[in-house]
Parts: sequence; structure tokens; C-alpha cells
Amino acid sequence: MENGSSNKALKPMDSEQLREYGHRMVDFIADYYKTIETFPVLSQVQPGYLHNLLPDSAPEQPETLEQVLDDVKEKILPGVTHWQSPSFFAYYPANSSVAGFLGEMLSAALNIVGFSWVSSPAATELEMIVLDWFAKLLNLPEQFLSRGNGGGVIQGTASEAILVVMIAARDKVLRSLGKKALEKLVVYSSDQTHSSLLKACQIAGIHLENCRMLKTDSSTNYALRPESLQEAVSGDLEAGLIPFFLCGTVGTTSSTAVDPLAELGMIAKSNEMWFHVDAAYAGSACICPEYRQYIDGVETADSFNMNAHKWFLTNFDCSLLWVKDRCALTEALSTNPEFLKNKASQANLVVDYKDWQIPLGRRFRSLKLWMVLRLYGAETLKSYIRNHIKLAKDLEQLVSQDPNFEVVTPRIFSLVCFRIVPVDNDEKTCNNLNRSLLDAVNSSGKLFISHTTLSGKFVLRLAIGAPLTEEKHVMDAWKVIQEEASFLLASQVK
Ligand SMILES: Cc1ncc(COP(=O)(O)O)c(C=O)c1O
Repeated sequence: MENGSSNKALKPMDSEQLREYGHRMVDFIADYYKTIETFPVLSQVQPGYLHNLLPDSAPEQPETLEQVLDDVKEKILPGVTHWQSPSFFAYYPANSSVAGFLGEMLSAALNIVGFSWVSSPAATELEMIVLDWFAKLLNLPEQFLSRGNGGGVIQGTASEAILVVMIAARDKVLRSLGKKALEKLVVYSSDQTHSSLLKACQIAGIHLENCRMLKTDSSTNYALRPESLQEAVSGDLEAGLIPFFLCGTVGTTSSTAVDPLAELGMIAKSNEMWFHVDAAYAGSACICPEYRQYIDGVETADSFNMNAHKWFLTNFDCSLLWVKDRCALTEALSTNPEFLKNKASQANLVVDYKDWQIPLGRRFRSLKLWMVLRLYGAETLKSYIRNHIKLAKDLEQLVSQDPNFEVVTPRIFSLVCFRIVPVDNDEKTCNNLNRSLLDAVNSSGKLFISHTTLSGKFVLRLAIGAPLTEEKHVMDAWKVIQEEASFLLASQVK
């Protein structure tokens, strides 16, 4: 195969070839990480660039690993945005780590499809154990642990997590009120909630006119006010509608706003609503005792989700979902075809995770989280998080000291939201200026930041959380931002 010869019998899993190629691939990847700072962080290619570089059809004859890796270097890497770069500050991070990477390798090696316990018992059991470990790190209430009626499960993404719990909540209500009630079901959240909530509503058949994205503003730093929720719920009840689902967020995508879980949860409980807490990004910070307060009130929630693949050194994808009542999930999502029947499932002795998720097939994802927890340990993981938060705090201070800039919302975790300040209250010009600054900074290739809007203001977001980021990268990034801003401000004056 190495020489491109086609007359040898195909041996798709030859352990000696795996050893040889595997070593070469690991060397290739290690070199990539070693030189990652030499690449433009945000890929600068134009749409369709790859069509011109690759052939129109797949090769008839085998090619060599060298040929493929050369193409990766020359053709693929220029079109890659380097999420693992220490100067990647856009969106929220997507952490890779040696432990996470090795776990992924092991999972790829075993390549099991663990839909039911019997299809690979260790996959189900390790997932239950690791999710219990994690629940304890977060100090989640007992009801979320697997020894009672609840438990945790690894979903691909936070979007899938919110969809499955919404379907569980929907079916629970429809079982008692009848299917016709669907058109009356109402969902609540703040206008800062991730767009995955609306997508879940669309998929779950919730009428979009019954989705209340309640307005927030700077007076609560974009957290949902319980009074707004109460008012909306009362209005809907009066109109004969059925409040059934509330999503609170700890660490919103735009600005890390934290909704007041305890108060929201009380309203949810007194109206028999399902209360889901989305802590996709900020959940990681809550393993540190000093940040645990941000999920106080999670006792009132029916489900809680955080992405270990964001800021917890666990390679994508690994979204952790806990529910208090696993029957709500399984009653909505179970299937029981003849070809999957087995003694353990029939005797109700085991968890079959296929009934907690949308697809049937599932990867052995708990391995990577297990490896992260074991190879790093909770104390190291806490320091990792604290270091990013400290870097963000330092940056926030620098921004607030620069008269050209303002911090738009107070930083809570490791995201700094800021902008060039408006002159003479001219918000429109200010928004354009900040948009230009974003483009200038990102097209420099030296760093990558993203943006949002808050109360009509165009805001720059710098999220610190890539595994390789050190103080010098944050300082260099800030220097580039300041320089580009000075240039733009000077050209405005002319
Ligand atoms: C708060 C929050 N919720 C949900 C999501 C969606 O995440 P996923 O890509 O895992 O669906 C994000 C993504 O950044 C997020 O920040």
C-alpha cells in the first residue's frame, strides 16, 4: 500500500501498519502543535478554495500516507481555523488535551457502538460512573446521580441535550393532557438563551408563537428577571396556554450572563414546568468552590447540561447532561425492536443509553473524559480554569484603563466583552468602528476574536480558554487590538 501498489490484498487493520502509520501520524500532529503559532489563527481562504486544489473524484489506486499528509499540509491546513491556537479567543473554546486526545484514540481503536448495555457493557457502565464523578465535582444534588431515579448521559452537543429534555418534558405533559395540548405548550427563556433552544422548539413541534424569549438588559447584566418570567407565565395562564418548559442559562453565549436559578426554579416548580439549566460553557468553572455559587439553585432544576468539550480539556464532542427523572427521557425516546432485544434489557437490569438520546448508535465517549479526570485530577483542572479566569481579569483591567475602550458587561468567568467607546454618543458610527476593528484584528491572522450585540451595541468578545494560552498571548492580542484601534481612530479624524 505504501508504494501505491494495488495488487496486495487489502488489510484494513494490520497492527504493524497501524503501529508504523500511527507513529508517523502522532509525529505529524505533535509537530502541528509545536508550530501552531506560525499559522494564521483564522483561516484566510476564500469560499470554494479546496475545489481548485483537489481532484474531482476519488483515486482508483491507493496512495501513500506521505502523499496524503503532504496534501494536509499544503491544501487542508490553510483552510483550517486553529481552534487550538493559544491566540484563539473567539466564540467559546473547544479544548483538546493529551489526555482527551488519547481517550479519543482509544475510543477510535475499540470503535464500539454502545447503544445498549449488552452491546458493550463497559461503555455504559463507565459513562454512568464518570458522570457520577463529575456530578460530585459540581456538587449537583443527589437526585442527579445514577443510584436513584436520575443519572447522567453524554450527548454530542448542548443542542442535543436541550432537544432531548424538551421532548421528555413535552411528552410528559401530553401524556397527562392529551396530544391536542401541543399547540398550547409554552417555552420560556431569556433573549440571551442560545439559539439551540429555538431549534429544539422547532424540532419538538412547539409553536414558535409560544416561545417567550424574555427581554433582558444591562440593569441585570443580561440575566433573566424572575418578575419578567412570572408576568409572562401569568399572562399565558390567563390566555389558557400551558407553561411547560423553562430554560435558564449559567454563562450565556453573548456575555456569560447568569440567570438566577433558585428564583426561576421556584416559578417553574409552582407552575409544574420542566426546568432545564444550560451551563454549556461556564459549567466547567463551577467545579471550583468559589464559582459553584453560580449554579446555586440547580436543586430546583429537572436537568442540567455542561460541555466538557468546551473548557474542560476533553476533545469534542462531549456534552454532559444530567436528569433527575430518567424515566421521563426513556418514556419519550425508547424503542424496542426485536433485533435489539436481550436478557439484561428485558429484565430491566441495565441502562440502555439509546433511550436517552436521538440516534441509536453512540461512541465510547466516556473514555476521554475518564482519561482527562484521571491523568489531570480535579486539583489541576481547577487551577487550569482559575488561570484562564485570572488572565481574563487582568485583561478586563487593561481594557478599562484604556480611554479608547470600555468594558461592556462586567466579566464573570473568562470572557471579556468590550468595545471602542462611542464619541458624542454616536452609536451608529461606534458600531461601524467596532465592526471594522473586528475585521482588522482577525484578518491580521495574529488572533481570532468574535462579536455579539447587546442592547444594539456591537460588542467584541475575547474568550480565554484555549489549553495553550499563556499571559503573553493575551498581552500580544491586546496589543494588536490597541494598535488596530489607534489606526482606525486616527483615520477617522482625518
Ligand atoms: C450557553 C450555550 N448553550 C448552548 C450552546 C450550543 O452548544 P453546542 O454546540 O454544544 O450545541 C453554546 C455554544 O457555544 C452555548 O454557549
